[in-house]
Amino acid sequence: MQPSWWQTGVIYQIYPRSFLDTNGDGIGDLPGITKKLDYLQWLGVDILWLSPIFPSPMADFGYDISNYCDIDPLFGTLQELDVLVEQAHRRGLKLVLDFVPNHTSDEHPWFQESRSSRENEKRDWYIWHDPAPDGGPPNNWTSFFGGSAWELDAQTGQYYLHMFDVKQPDLNWHNPQVRQAMYDVLRFWLDRGIDGFRVDVLWLLMKDEQLRDNPINPDWRPGDLPEQRQFRLYNEDQPGVHAIVREMRSVLDTYGERVLIGEIYLPIERLVHYYGESLDEAHLPFNFQLFSLPGWEAAILRQVIDTYESLLPAGAWPNWVLSNHDRPRIATRIGKAQARVAQMLLLTLRGTPTCYYGDELGMENVLVPLEMIHDPQGKEYPALSRDHARTPMQWDTSANAGFSSSHVTPWLPVSEDYRTNNVSVSRKNIRSFLMFTRTLIELRRLLPALKLGSYQSIEQDNPSCFVYQRGYQKERYLVVLNLSDEKQVLSLTGKGRVLLTTYMDFEGTRDLAELYLRGNEGLLIEIL
Ligand code: NOJ
Repeated sequence: MQPSWWQTGVIYQIYPRSFLDTNGDGIGDLPGITKKLDYLQWLGVDILWLSPIFPSPMADFGYDISNYCDIDPLFGTLQELDVLVEQAHRRGLKLVLDFVPNHTSDEHPWFQESRSSRENEKRDWYIWHDPAPDGGPPNNWTSFFGGSAWELDAQTGQYYLHMFDVKQPDLNWHNPQVRQAMYDVLRFWLDRGIDGFRVDVLWLLMKDEQLRDNPINPDWRPGDLPEQRQFRLYNEDQPGVHAIVREMRSVLDTYGERVLIGEIYLPIERLVHYYGESLDEAHLPFNFQLFSLPGWEAAILRQVIDTYESLLPAGAWPNWVLSNHDRPRIATRIGKAQARVAQMLLLTLRGTPTCYYGDELGMENVLVPLEMIHDPQGKEYPALSRDHARTPMQWDTSANAGFSSSHVTPWLPVSEDYRTNNVSVSRKNIRSFLMFTRTLIELRRLLPALKLGSYQSIEQDNPSCFVYQRGYQKERYLVVLNLSDEKQVLSLTGKGRVLLTTYMDFEGTRDLAELYLRGNEGLLIEIL
């Protein structure tokens, strides 16, 4: 069977607000993305996923949608999206949109109707409930952004559920009309040539109809994530969710080769169910394990990756995500030197990799001062602000890093290192992070073993290093990663030719029986 484009390709996540501002309002836009397609093609990525671009009051920066079938004027117009799709396709690039089905904005006409009276025909499109006997919220569920997940609506005297911000009321997916309306949204974009969707919080769509209380996590301590405060026994991963994913998938399947990607934060044993019993649910349930490792250590990586590989259902295609718009950047989590090692890992593992914009440069979190925080989660918990990882893309040495014209103030501050770390400067430096990423992507494209081959971790004695083999037909490659900043020696077998090092400086034949690595070095080796 010929592999599909979503199996062989590299996904690149664009946060549109922060990519390129062409109209001088300090916020990135669709023409900005179109303008950078040549860059993305040069970089070698294949599939562009755009975070939400639809009309929105921006309480959660586009994840609060007030019209699913249009473009927010901040980003452009439907015609400008058509141009982007056409130009992307012309270059062989695919375009994936964010689909946000769990909640709308409170300014969506559906919610406006729903809240207007208890008798309104759209009342049941959202999750409304009478107060508890003491007048408080109907149950103990908490929002991901902190506090109760219920908001009292004075006009009708009932509470509505919002798993995120109060301005993001949850839709009632038990209601068949909601389902049909949302599948029509999928069709609207598929008809416009969109290649697939990344589905926001897919595992949260169904809620317990009895609204039972969640058990409290006794180990939760202040400083832990607010979302870990309770075990979400009754408002996530409910049995009925799989029927919905199958329905979404069947809408996509009528359009040929399209992709359904699920945002799902669950332990692997539960995550893999989202492929579907007959592989008829998500093509790619996002695998976020590289976010939540208990440590950046060889033994941990090996255990996590091997376990994932062993739990994948037969025929299911793996995927890996290193960073996104909700987590600190990888270069900040593990340091810039190790970020190269992580990039080598991401782009040489088996399965579709997702790269977050700017990570190809090794961009780092930018500290956004308290008074400038935009993110609703950051306003509640400054230490958890997501603005830090959403700052403008660093294009060149001009003012605002070339993101916005010089006379405007970008919506978030540009990183101070932009004069030395940007696309333009990096393209001229053969050893830069960017050139390293591009070479990795190119090797992944050229070598069937990396793109499609088997994965096997390798037992060896050095605890600072993680080693695995990728194979396809007669070809064998080793990936050797030094997770420490000290030099290491390993004893493997045979002879190999180094195709790439994270230092971008040395290639050639090596005796694998005594293989030296510098601190923070990763090697891609062809076994001879
Ligand atoms: C997950 C998205 O990635 C995040 O940015 C957003 O705040 C929540 N879902 C709510 O839509």
